[in-house]
Amino acid sequence: MRNVAAIVLAAGLGKRMKSSLVKTLHLLRGKPIITYAVNAAKDLRPARLVVVVGHQGEDVMRAIGPGVEYAVQAEQRGTGHAVLQAAPLLQDFRGDVVILYGDMPLLTARVIERLLDEHSTGGFAATVLTAVLDDPSGYGRIVRDERGGFRQIVEDGDCTPEEREIREINTGVYCFKARLLFEALKRIRPENSQGEFYLTDVLGLLRGDGMEIGVVAAEDVTSVMGINDRRQLAWAEGVLRERKMDKLMLSGVTVLDPRTTYIDEDVEIGPDTLVKPFTFLEGRTTLGSGCIVGPSTRISDSVLRDGVSVEFSVVEGSTIETGVRVGPFSHLRPGTTLGPGVRVGNFAEIKNSRIGAGSKIPHHSYVGDSDIGERVNLGAGCVTVNYDGWRKHRTVVEDEAFVGCNVNIIAPLKVGEGAYVAAGSTINADVPAGALAIARARQENKEGWARKKAREQRGGSKG
Ligand code: UD1
Ligand code: CA
Repeated sequence: MRNVAAIVLAAGLGKRMKSSLVKTLHLLRGKPIITYAVNAAKDLRPARLVVVVGHQGEDVMRAIGPGVEYAVQAEQRGTGHAVLQAAPLLQDFRGDVVILYGDMPLLTARVIERLLDEHSTGGFAATVLTAVLDDPSGYGRIVRDERGGFRQIVEDGDCTPEEREIREINTGVYCFKARLLFEALKRIRPENSQGEFYLTDVLGLLRGDGMEIGVVAAEDVTSVMGINDRRQLAWAEGVLRERKMDKLMLSGVTVLDPRTTYIDEDVEIGPDTLVKPFTFLEGRTTLGSGCIVGPSTRISDSVLRDGVSVEFSVVEGSTIETGVRVGPFSHLRPGTTLGPGVRVGNFAEIKNSRIGAGSKIPHHSYVGDSDIGERVNLGAGCVTVNYDGWRKHRTVVEDEAFVGCNVNIIAPLKVGEGAYVAAGSTINADVPAGALAIARARQENKEGWARKKAREQRGGSKG
């Protein structure tokens, strides 16, 4: 383990977001922006990790949680001033200090490690990570001396016209020898266009003291882009989405059209699963191998075992065992468990119910708060009447029962094992095992009725 401390700055409001919410709490892939930089810092396994908070500090600390130390910058007087707030916590620390900004969510620990390597190999007082951009506007520029070495960083607002042309920029990731950093921080002055204490001035100061400053250019420019406004937020969303998609495809998942597929960060998918277009896989969702999901399907916080297929459907908070087929046009709501080999509609809704292995709910049904056994058949239009206006009640249908079409089952009640319920019945009492229940008006046929009616009609129109 290296003797490294990390400081993440997250005290600023982020004016360019035009928001009442502090920038680092805006969500990126469903998680606060700040959590990304903090996680990258944690991946370094630093000896100390300090996050500097200020604006909406309580909320930022809550989003990050325990496992880090916090320093408070009560007034936002610049990045240098922010780092100074962490100094008391690190005054006895003797190694290197890595500094990151909380608005760089695409950064990975690998990039920082490379910076650290160059920093120690070169024996530099400080090392800065840079990038060469086509459009460097808004960033601090890296100004080099006549021998090509580092001279200073000049902020966008303080650039001369010539400096503004420089395309090499400061990414905002640095490594400093701790002692030199905290000593030089006391010497910087807010003499610039913004009247702030710039952390970037520390590098120029150290260089002025005759020390060597390392410059490392980022290989992957994407990873060092900061989020300042909502356009960049949307762009970062796309980058992370693509990274996740690439990881899945490289692990054996087929995604027919990555551009129209949305998969959250924590979703896991087994190999040889096919994801078709217009599909959303959200939250804590796990798909087994050999599944087919989509097109036009949303699955959130659910578990699908192997060989499950779901098309044109919505699945929420459900567990689906091997070989189940769902859809088209079904809705599985939270608390649903489908046993192996179950078949669910064409137009079915299931809520808070367990469906046993091999059972079928193929067409136009509503099953709520029910325990359905194995190899049960619920006919088209079977409805559990689970709500009396005050309370929900449970329905039990035991193994191998056969419920005909268009049946209402008024809960609470039980249909026994192997029982039959005649089509069109409204069932409001238990059905014993093996029985046939018929609960509908008896049919009456009136012979010759149609001809008689027609004769009457004709007579009427003449008269
Ligand atoms: C900063 C750099 C700039 C660099 C760019 C890279 C400085 C002076 N400038 O500019 O050279 O090219 O990042 O993205 O460092 N913060 C505090 N307290 C403060 C001010 C800022 O904690 O008083 C935090 C912010 O919350 C943010 C980070 O520091 O996470 C950077 O601040 P920001 O205002 O975004 O700096 P830039 O103008 O982007
Ligand atoms: Ca920034």
